[in-house]
Amino acid sequence: MYDGKYIVPGLLIFLAVFFIPTAYTYATGGPSQPPKPALPANETQCVESKDWMRDNHMQLLVQWREDVVRNNDRTYTSFTYNKQYKKSLTNTCLKCHDNKQDFCDSCHTYAGVSPNCWDCHNVPKEVSS
Ligand code: HEC
Ligand code: HEC
Ligand code: HEC
Repeated sequence: MYDGKYIVPGLLIFLAVFFIPTAYTYATGGPSQPPKPALPANETQCVESKDWMRDNHMQLLVQWREDVVRNNDRTYTSFTYNKQYKKSLTNTCLKCHDNKQDFCDSCHTYAGVSPNCWDCHNVPKEVSS
């Protein structure tokens, strides 16, 4: 025979432990939210698909820089949309994504990266924080 007097305390301990993460979440003001970067209001598509851009925009930018600086090749053809874009950080990316702070920075701050591009490249309209 098992001993019934341990069942209720056992259950209470189980429930307490089970709900600690929930209690912690409430106590600390909600789960840590991944950023929701502000997308441009007047555009519907990026240079490539959203998922591709999310994964590959860093390499794309490095490639653009190489192409422009080394080969003076300034035109990019999207393999997703078969459209042409000027290979330019300020004049292409930031023309659509004109709020660097609420777009680029929202992710980068969360991910803990701070690209040094803006030491040299212009930000169209920096919103002061
Ligand atoms: C013609 C306007 C336009 C240009 C130019 C443009 N974007 Fe985008 N970008 C968008 C739009 C619109 C979306 C959202 C697409 C969607 O929802 O399918 C987007 C999505 C993205 C995303 C994914 C965001 C997310 O929430 O996951 C990244 C990253 C990104 N762009 C970076 C860039 C970079 C870097 C460049 C320059 C190489 C660039 N974009 C050029 C309009 C543009
Ligand atoms: C959806 C989230 C998201 C958005 C929006 C976004 N980035 Fe990023 N970006 C990242 C992440 C995450 C990394 C780090 C990736 C890694 O280390 O592999 C990164 C890295 C980079 C890097 C390389 C930095 C380094 O030090 O290696 C550059 C350059 C860059 N992003 C440019 C931009 C620009 C310009 C924009 C705005 C037009 C932008 N990103 C918008 C998520 C984002
Ligand atoms: C030390 C200064 C400096 C830094 C830092 C820098 N760049 Fe550049 N970049 C330049 C110069 C100068 C050019 C040449 C401009 C031209 O010929 O149009 C250039 C050209 C480019 C181009 C193609 C032309 C254009 O209009 O955008 C891209 C794309 C680019 N850089 C991306 C980046 C990215 C992404 C970063 C950050 C990871 C970065 N650069 C950091 C100085 C810099």
